[in-house]
Amino acid sequence: MGISRKESSNEMWGGRFEGGPAAVMREINNSLALDRRLWRQDIAGSQAHVAMLGAQGIVPAADADAIAEGLGRVAAECEAGRIPDDPALEDIHMATEARLAELVGPVAGRLHTARSRNDQVATDFRLWVRDAIDEVDRGLRSLQRALVARAEEQAATVMPGFTHLQVAQPVTLGHHLLAFHEMIARDRSRFIDSRRRLNESPLGAAALAGTGFPIDRDRTATALGFARPMRNSLDAVSDRDFALDYLQAAAQCALHLSRLAEEFVIWASQPFGFVSLPDAWSTGSSIMPQKRNPDAAELVRGHAGRIVGCATALLVTMKGLPLAYSKDMQDDKPPVFEAHDLLGLSLLAMTGMVETVAFRPDRMRAAAEGGFSTATDLADWLVRVQGIPFREAHHVTGRAVRLAEKRGCRLWELPLEVLRTVDARIDAGVYEVLSVDASVASRRSYGGTAPEEVRARAAEARAELDRE
Ligand code: ARG
Repeated sequence: MGISRKESSNEMWGGRFEGGPAAVMREINNSLALDRRLWRQDIAGSQAHVAMLGAQGIVPAADADAIAEGLGRVAAECEAGRIPDDPALEDIHMATEARLAELVGPVAGRLHTARSRNDQVATDFRLWVRDAIDEVDRGLRSLQRALVARAEEQAATVMPGFTHLQVAQPVTLGHHLLAFHEMIARDRSRFIDSRRRLNESPLGAAALAGTGFPIDRDRTATALGFARPMRNSLDAVSDRDFALDYLQAAAQCALHLSRLAEEFVIWASQPFGFVSLPDAWSTGSSIMPQKRNPDAAELVRGHAGRIVGCATALLVTMKGLPLAYSKDMQDDKPPVFEAHDLLGLSLLAMTGMVETVAFRPDRMRAAAEGGFSTATDLADWLVRVQGIPFREAHHVTGRAVRLAEKRGCRLWELPLEVLRTVDARIDAGVYEVLSVDASVASRRSYGGTAPEEVRARAAEARAELDRE
């Protein structure tokens, strides 16, 4: 309003874009604000490329040296926080090259010989994701260590085990914590597996077809720590399955973290009261002075949704793209960066919570003793000691539970004469299996919840972590 068509290039966004369609084009095309994060990998890729160009005599050695030295200066500037940010430069690849040209002059123009931004970005991004995997792996390892340490400490702490969130059988807290250690171990293997697949070099694929220059792809691959060059130039510039592998491993990992976070949220609630979260991981309410909210755990739970969204976003972006490169693929980076940042924070928060949470064994034991949690132990006793078929033992036990419920007592508080009205084959020996401690102690099968079994599995896990 008030702006004539002449003054404005476009009625809808003319105020912002003075230059008309060309300015909109620049805006939609620009990715520098996001892919600035690739500067380190971009310069490493260029260093490997120019060293190879010099060694192969594709550019004069003196020029290659001048470019290498100039790239070092660009890197130093970026390191000092002066990463190019002029949006006119389009993306980080153009930006570093433009800065190089300012520093070393026209010789900079030789750097892009036998290379395209297509193989350049594929290389940079692979390098970035590789570093990201290593970082996540370190974070996961710290979380495993925290889980194992707390599991060892709580190997004999009795708590209710749940199915359907109904009290099922007593378990030990150490056992419960080690369950998450196992999930995290599998998450690590997924990341490590994707790292192995990712670790091949696209550099030298050029735009899509390879190049007529006598490049040495083994040399650049080795210089960048890749196991080998990728075998097909079309594949090299057009697939982003390495980024999807990362995102899908991240999504699975985030799901595990969110389930652990959810346990903390439930355990910290007043009706449960199994833990008190330290101040460092809680917040108060602006209106209810008594509140201590498990915000960090809730945010880990929430972040999992966003990470899954990132994986979905890139899957959909890549779906149905024709070979080789299409500009849609520029949208590969934001979901990976976002997921990585969220996962990193979630890992730090979960590790911190696991390390510092205060468990409340008294509350856990009281809950474990409710809900007739040792009913299965009674049934098993009838099978083992009296030779009763399990199905029949199940019925007998059901009647005993009904009686206890009616009398408002625990199973082990039922007097023997009352138990014998249910089934005359029951004798005093049954009381040895009805307590929660007896119940957990009896479950010594491999991977079971008995304290000694938990200690053995924790020791195994610790030894594996120490061996790394
Ligand atoms: N910024 C681009 C990206 O991230 C770099 C590749 C550009 N290639 C091209 N053919 N326009 O995908």
